Formats: sequence, C-alpha cells, structure tokens
Amino acid sequence: MCGIIGYTGPKRAARILLEGLKRLEYRGYDSAGIAVNEDLENNDTPFTVYKRTGKIAQLREIVPKELPGICGIGHTRWATHGGVTDTNAHPHCSSDGRIAIVHNGIIENYTTLKEMLSKEGFTFASETDSEVIAHLIAYVYEGDLETAVKTAVSYLKGTYGIACMHKAEPGRIVGARNGSPLVVGVGDGEMFLASDVTAMLAHTRRVVYLNDGEIVSLYPHEFSISDAEDRPIVPKINHIDWEISAIEKEGFSCYMEKEIFEQPDSIARALSGRIDLETGTAKLGGLNLSKKELLGVDAIQIIAAGTSYHAGMTASYLFEQIARIPSQAHLASELRYKNPIVFPGMLYFAVSQSGETADTLYAMREIQRRGGTVLGICNVVGSTIARESDGGVYVHSGPEIAVASTKAFTSQLAAFYLLALNFARLHDMSAHQGQQYCQKLQQIPGLVQETLKLRDTVQRIAKRYCHYKDFLFLGRNLLYPIALEGALKLKEISYIHAEGYAAGEIKHGPIALISPETPSVFLVSNDHLREKTISNMKEIKARGGLIIAIAEAGDEEVSSIADAYIGIPHCDTLFQPFLMVIPLQLFAYFCALELGKDVDQPRNLAKSVTVE
Ligand code: F6R
Repeated sequence: MCGIIGYTGPKRAARILLEGLKRLEYRGYDSAGIAVNEDLENNDTPFTVYKRTGKIAQLREIVPKELPGICGIGHTRWATHGGVTDTNAHPHCSSDGRIAIVHNGIIENYTTLKEMLSKEGFTFASETDSEVIAHLIAYVYEGDLETAVKTAVSYLKGTYGIACMHKAEPGRIVGARNGSPLVVGVGDGEMFLASDVTAMLAHTRRVVYLNDGEIVSLYPHEFSISDAEDRPIVPKINHIDWEISAIEKEGFSCYMEKEIFEQPDSIARALSGRIDLETGTAKLGGLNLSKKELLGVDAIQIIAAGTSYHAGMTASYLFEQIARIPSQAHLASELRYKNPIVFPGMLYFAVSQSGETADTLYAMREIQRRGGTVLGICNVVGSTIARESDGGVYVHSGPEIAVASTKAFTSQLAAFYLLALNFARLHDMSAHQGQQYCQKLQQIPGLVQETLKLRDTVQRIAKRYCHYKDFLFLGRNLLYPIALEGALKLKEISYIHAEGYAAGEIKHGPIALISPETPSVFLVSNDHLREKTISNMKEIKARGGLIIAIAEAGDEEVSSIADAYIGIPHCDTLFQPFLMVIPLQLFAYFCALELGKDVDQPRNLAKSVTVE
C-alpha cells in the first residue's frame, strides 16, 4: 500500500526512482511523484519535485529525461487522506521546499498536529495527513536530519514508513518505520531505501529490513540504523535470491496471466524438498515446535485476509478431515477486535502473501500478546509477519506482482497440505496412507499444467458470459472456499458483482436471486457430495438460471445439465481445490480482458494492504 523508493549514489537519481516506482506500482497507483536534489551547488534552493495523478507512465511524461541529481525519493500513492490530486501526491515539502518527505501509512493525530503547526505559522498545501511530517521535521530541525526525524516521529500516532531528505545535507536520506515496511538496499557505492525489495532488485540483492521504531540514515557509501532510544543497531544483511526475470512479464500480456501460468512451477517450489515419500510425511524445518508440542495441538485457528483467508479456510476443512483437529479460519480484521480466545493446545497460523497485511499482523500480535503461538505462512521472505511469527513455512511462490493473488494462493494451499499431512501422521493416518497422500501431492504440479490447457475453453465461456452483471459461485466442503475465491477474483478485476456461497445454502435465501440474468458457477466434486451438488444445479435450472459447471472431465450428467461445462483432469477429491481454482482464475482474467479492464491494477485496490 503506497510504494516508497529512495536513492543516493553516483547515478542519475530520477531514472532509478522512476524505474523503482514502476516496480512498486502494484502497491498503489492513483498518483506518483519524485523529489531530487538537482542543485548540489546551492543548499538554499528547494528540491526539484515532479508529481501528478495517474500511473508512473504519466509521471514519466513530465520528468525531464536528463534530470540531474544524484539523491532523491519517490512515491506511488494509494490515497487514504485527501483525494487523488496532483497536490495530494507525494513527495510533500516543508514551506521553503528544503525538506522533502514520502510517507506510507496513516498519521492518526494529524489534525491535532496540523492545528499546532498552523498556529506556529506553517501553511499546508495538501489535504493529506502526510504533509504534517514535512512541517514537523522543519519545526524541530536543528542542523541534523536524523535527530530531527527522531524527534518528529515521537509526536506521531499511527503508522508510517518515511523517507526524507534535507537540502542542507546533500546525499543523505533518512528513513523511519513504524508499522509500514522499509528495506535498505546496500549497493556498491550507492544505497537504496524502499517499501519492498522489488524496487531495487535490479541494483542490489543485499538488503536490511528495518524493524518498527528504527531510524536509518543513508549516504552513498555507508548507512547506520538506530532505535528510538538512540541505541545503534547492528544491521543483518539478507541476500534476496529472486531472479530479475521473476519480476518481468516475460512475454505475457500482464502479470496476472504470467502468474496463473507459473503455477505448476510455483506449486512445485512450495513442495520441493519437503515431501518424504519413505515415511509418508512432510519435512518442514521452520516450525520451531517439537513433535511433542505438535502432538499437543488440539485446535488450529487460522488468521488471514482476502485470498489468503480462502486458502486458510480450505486448510481448516483439511485439518479437520485428515488430521481430525478442530480448525477454524478467521478474517483477521474481525478476529483482532473479537477478544479472541487463546488456550494451551491452540495453535494459530497467520497466512499472508506479502507478510505485511496490517489486519493480519495486528491480529497475530494480539494472539501473541495473550501467550498464543502463531506460525506464519508467508511468501515474502523477511516480511514483518514472517519475522514476528513464532515459526512457519515460506511458500516460495516468487514475487507476486499482479494485485489479484493467484500463484500465492495455490502455494499457500501446498504449504497447508504439507502441514495437514504432518498433523494427520501424528494422529490417525498410517504410514501407507501418508505415502499415498505424498504421491498424490507430488502429482499436483503436473495436473495443474493439464488444467491450464483449458485456457481456450475458459476464454470462450468468458466471452459469452462477461456481460452479465451478477454471478453466484457455489461449492461444497473443500470447494466452498474455492467458490468464495472464484467470486473474489471475478469482482476484483472485472468489477462484476459476484457472491460465493456454500451450494447447500442457496435454498436458504440466495436462490431468490436466480433468474436468466444471474449465472451460477458450480464447482462439482467427484465424491459423495456430487449428487447433492447436482440436485442444487437442478434447482437452479428449474428456476430458469444459467449454469457454468466445473467438474471432472467426461462427467456427462453434469455437462448435460450445465449451459457451459469445464472438465478438469481427474484427481482425488481431497486435492481438487488446486485444480478447481485454475479455471476460476482464468475466467476472471478473461472476463476482465474482454471488458477492457486493467487486469494487473484494478481500480481502488492495492497489493499489500498496510493500513487497517
Ligand atoms: C485478492 C488479494 C487480496 C489479498 C489480501 C491479503 O486477490 O490479493 O484479497 O489476498 O489483501 O493479502 P496478503 O496475502 O498479502 O496478506
């Protein structure tokens, strides 16, 4: 949510900032801007600032190609306080233009601070909460930016990731973090500061993650970190092993398409080295729990938001079915304020692709505060949830750039299928059953590859149905969360209204919506619930509803009832979520494409929601 990039070094800063912002655009894309120290000769002149509403491409149009300046900060915005206008875009400057800041987060006490600073004679140009930070730093500045930032942030209530510069201190960038991620990129004679590593991956793979309360000061050849009490922090340099190709489109029309088609590989990576066929178990090194502690788990709670919540909900069915451990998935934004119950034997999982989602992070902290153990299921290595959890599993799906999550979802499923196996093997599952389960899990990447061949079929169906205004997505058991995920994907990128329901629930209300104008997408499992789902399909048909059915290939009964039919490869019912979600992702993608929507950057959304 909002992207930050800062650069200090020998190169032209503007070029690096614009390139970094392009990489960060998925974090927010309603407006963007940069500030650079163009006039190094004269410290009394203001910073050069370019900012405007729209995408980075529009910002590029107004930034001179050869803009000099070797130190600068940039920002891509997802508006919270103040509308989407050029003035509200970041960077924000002090009145004399000699302090420039970019900010990610929300300053909750900004009205009080604004009043205080206005009385002191400061004038405000924008409607944002962020601008107070620039004036506050100017208010307390006494010749050292780091000291001024330390003092200024002590006035702030809320969340922030800040990067700022002072004209009197050429080549220096100071950053501060509380609740919004900031990462230092350590280059060769150059330094970076960004809200995530993708912004600087083309320049360095050596990064240092800042913790809440820490302040960093960067010069081209050195950096130092201290905490709020001014104690120096010894930085831990992490090496990022993502390839630059992982953040390129590589011939695909957009990131979402690329990420959908990457899934055989990303699922294989999530499983790689973790299946022990001989013992019929999974090898998961990072759980930090002994066998005895795992055996003592008698309830599993899962915290997540959005698509990650749907992965967690699928897992809750799985834990109950195969490990026989009571399990429940919770929306993080609800759980935090619910006065959650924690008791010995209860294990929590926090699931998050980005590892930065504020709702999930705060819910996790609340559970930990009550003495609960929370394991993280994260994609982004070194992210806040990954670092603050008590252990966990990385899903290794590689960088996910499209705002709509696809490959991270199936990798989260893969991690949960491994976890569920381990719990099951501690309880009722025999070694032989474990081995069979492992074999089936190993086949998933290949089966997903097969399922992706349905691309043209799904595109044809999307062309036919994308002009309908409302959809229902229906499934039972493990396929119910997948139905929810199908509905979420459709609404977020095509803006078509869609609701996911448990198929058995429609007769309790939603069936009133059925008409020839509201198609239903049915996910039909190949187990004992198939007949019941088919009955639900018939109920819809009897009321004039249209049906798109996804079932096993060759299911003539289903295809004869449905108006459109997608036949997925055969696999064990337990593993069907992996395959069922693929046509749903493709359907949403092709509907959005057909309707001319911006698939990777849907309106009003941003990846990594770091505000509550
Ligand atoms: C949907 C989507 C969001 C995220 C949600 C949680 O396609 O991307 O619903 O799943 O914002 O994000 P993470 O997983 O980063 O915590």
